[in-house]
Amino acid sequence: MRLLVLGGTHFVGRAIVETALADGIDVTALNRGLSHIPDADVPTLIADRTDPVALRKAIGGMDWDAVIDTWSGAPSVIAASCQLLARRTGHFGYVSTQSVYADPMPRGADETAPVVSADPDSPDGSDYPAAKRGAELAVQRIFGAGALLARPGLILGPYENVGRLPWWLRRIERGGRVLAPGDPDSTVRYVDARDLAQWMLLAARRHLSGPFNVVCRPGSTTMGELLATAVRVTGSDAELVWAPEDVILDAGIAPWTELPIWIPRGPDFDAHSSVDVSAAFAAGLTCRPVQETVADTWAWLNAEGDPRPRPDRPSHGLDPARERQVLDTLTGGPALSGAPAMGSADGSDVKAIWR
Ligand SMILES: NC(=O)c1ccc[n+]([C@@H]2O[C@H](COP(=O)([O-])OP(=O)(O)OC[C@H]3O[C@@H](n4cnc5c(N)ncnc54)[C@H](OP(=O)(O)O)[C@@H]3O)[C@@H](O)[C@H]2O)c1
Repeated sequence: MRLLVLGGTHFVGRAIVETALADGIDVTALNRGLSHIPDADVPTLIADRTDPVALRKAIGGMDWDAVIDTWSGAPSVIAASCQLLARRTGHFGYVSTQSVYADPMPRGADETAPVVSADPDSPDGSDYPAAKRGAELAVQRIFGAGALLARPGLILGPYENVGRLPWWLRRIERGGRVLAPGDPDSTVRYVDARDLAQWMLLAARRHLSGPFNVVCRPGSTTMGELLATAVRVTGSDAELVWAPEDVILDAGIAPWTELPIWIPRGPDFDAHSSVDVSAAFAAGLTCRPVQETVADTWAWLNAEGDPRPRPDRPSHGLDPARERQVLDTLTGGPALSGAPAMGSADGSDVKAIWR
């Protein structure tokens, strides 16, 4: 298979390129050349894809069996790319998101759940759900039965430059008492970027099309297992101190961003923990165990160092002083009245923000 990956140097795109190379696929990447996969020799076309003339020049007369794109900006950019690639490939795989589902997302949502309204030609990428849905429409408009829309929820794994699992690993590495949110048995649904990559490549080979929710099955792992694995792989002396959700929320701590990955019980948790993934599993999705995701992310952090935080995503993590305050109240210390609220503590940070 001859594959073009639009992007291909950061988190998900890098996982796609590396998985494809390991599968013996003939891969070309296209990006601005501002970033590279260390120690990899990937043939790369250089262009700023927001400039259609530069894109056309870079692509020239080439064609591919499949294209995979991770774009998360304005739909008009992906619309222009699809237009240019229309007769150069028969399969266009797009890394979309479950954020395209309209709020409130129903329990057990499958791919027919209502989506946000969006414009495939919009030059505005500031509204994430609308931008991703607009991109889906742009891809489907050009590629129709050749358009694959992968809709992951949370993505974890090596090369994560959002700062979710890397934050937990670094926090746990520091050791001591670590504030652990809510119920350790609470389910966590995510997909390892490498499993997403493997499945998108399989889908390209099988010419699958249409939308697919892509995360692990319910019950695959829990917050307790994820954090305990982080303690083990870091070799830390960290002691996980599980705090009831209301204690953390009352302290003004924002779920999802200040304590990454954690979604408190409520409609958002119910929707995202019950999302239907039967279509993707029937179409060959496999998910590696959480131990592998955590251990490999830790190994990558140590080998390559912490990635530069993405400027287009919120920063993640909890201020150590605020963490200590909450830990102290749990063991009978001073109450937390007047604690600064650093973000929404009602769960609204997690609404439709799978990015
Ligand atoms: N993280 C999550 O939990 C989550 C959940 C659901 C969905 N998602 C989706 O997963 C995807 C993540 O993709 P990703 O990690 O591969 O990162 P990305 O930010 O989508 O892609 C970055 C890549 O695009 C290139 N690039 C950026 N601007 C460019 C431009 N103007 N022209 C040409 N190339 C450009 C970059 O290289 P250069 O800088 O060298 O150009 C880099 O290779 C996104 O689509 C996101 O919506 C994420």
